[in-house]
Amino acid sequence: MTSPDHGLTTPPAHLSASIMCADLNALGREAKKLEDAGVDSIHIDIMDGHFVPNFTFGPGTVSALRRATQLPLHVHMMVQNPADHVSAFAQAGADLFYFHIESAPLPLRLGSMIVEAGMTPGVAINPFTPLAAVVDVPVPNVLVMSVEPGFAGQRWVPHTAGRVRELRASLREDVKIGVDGNVSEDNAVLAYENGASVFVCGTSSIFTSGDYATAVGQMRKRLQATAT
Ligand code: DX5
Ligand code: ZN
Repeated sequence: MTSPDHGLTTPPAHLSASIMCADLNALGREAKKLEDAGVDSIHIDIMDGHFVPNFTFGPGTVSALRRATQLPLHVHMMVQNPADHVSAFAQAGADLFYFHIESAPLPLRLGSMIVEAGMTPGVAINPFTPLAAVVDVPVPNVLVMSVEPGFAGQRWVPHTAGRVRELRASLREDVKIGVDGNVSEDNAVLAYENGASVFVCGTSSIFTSGDYATAVGQMRKRLQATAT
């Protein structure tokens, strides 16, 4: 099925639940609930208090989640020196390792390190970093930040859809584009129409209510209606 907007075939939507938005008192149970609700992966935001002014989880939480769910674990490394942490998160059980281009002066070398550690690499880019910084980075996943990273519950940066569209036109068709931050149903549809296929779902969708399965079903229904 080709999308009316960018003329490429529309890949199936991948819903990745941002676990920092879940009940932090019951992470294992929450991961299982999300798995049962039908999400495609768990998005784990890793923050070091330097790259972003906030702290979240470490490899210990990732390995605990690894024991709680069969879902792929995507770590989003909002840290100053991602290269220093590749092996720790690989050993903890992460499947996909998003590093930020803003903290990766040697993205080629970092990408190979991630692959050698047994994970899939992805590059994340902040809302006001020029897209030229990532278009030639040879990784299969690009995460377009739709908010300035560090906190849940922020507002979608309006030019995100245009950035997704521009990126879609410059990347190989097999490179997946994700959006992360205030991904409501409406914003997900907008991003999907412009070429994104990975949606990091947090407080503005899956975690809006306690009923994860209904929220996942509604998101999928909206996105499927866009793809047809
Ligand atoms: C923000 C994180 C996001 C965030 C999503 O720095 O990367 O994953 O948790 O939360 P919402 O959907 O509330 O923006
Ligand atoms: Zn994130």
